[in-house]
Amino acid sequence: MKIDILTLFPEMFKGVFGSSILKRAIEKEIVDINCINIRDFSKDKHKKVDDYPFGGGPGMVIKPEPIYDAIESVKAADSRIIFLTPKGKVYNQSIANSLSKEKHLIFLCGHYEGVDNRIIENYVTDEISIGDYVLTGGELPAMVVIDSVVRLIPGVLGKEESFIEESHYDGLLEYPQYTRPREFKGHKVPEVLLSGNHKKIEEWRKYKALELTYIRRPDLLKNKKLTKEEEKLLKQ
Ligand code: ADE
Repeated sequence: MKIDILTLFPEMFKGVFGSSILKRAIEKEIVDINCINIRDFSKDKHKKVDDYPFGGGPGMVIKPEPIYDAIESVKAADSRIIFLTPKGKVYNQSIANSLSKEKHLIFLCGHYEGVDNRIIENYVTDEISIGDYVLTGGELPAMVVIDSVVRLIPGVLGKEESFIEESHYDGLLEYPQYTRPREFKGHKVPEVLLSGNHKKIEEWRKYKALELTYIRRPDLLKNKKLTKEEEKLLKQ
């Protein structure tokens, strides 16, 4: 997968792709990530990229020309062009899954009061929000989306880091995990996990995942089609 990030602050991304799983994915050439400075596409002699909003009001708006030229410098026929904005569709695991199957993602990070809307209307394919709160720019949201997408690409996670069992993979929150010692400051590990009975353990984990989701995130259960076994467990 190729990822291009269009930003006014490329230095913000330095540490993120230089460590851990993302670094490994880049080294293995599973993903190719480039930061493009929108300012490099300014034709202004002072490299200005923003201007006052038509109609008045506070703040500045990023001009369409440098963004258009930055997009054109990387765009292919099948690119998805993602604008990070609190006005976008709220991001979730199912959007991450869909993005992880693409060949080319372009992330457009806005700042100041916004981006000229003609870019959003005519060139952006997806508007994504990472939650109902406002950040100072699209860079942190782009990092969140990129991290969650790249880890889903086959070959990025090792066997022991598989995402099959984790929260949201099957629409539920993950069951609780324990390791040694069996007793910690008087708190015991649930007996069933020490039983060696794999069927019982699997049933307990499923129950715990359902219970936790029911208590904390009943909204997730509304959108999920439960199997007969899950319905039975939930009624217990
Ligand atoms: N830019 C500012 N706030 C944002 C948010 N919550 N999600 C995506 N992009 C943003």
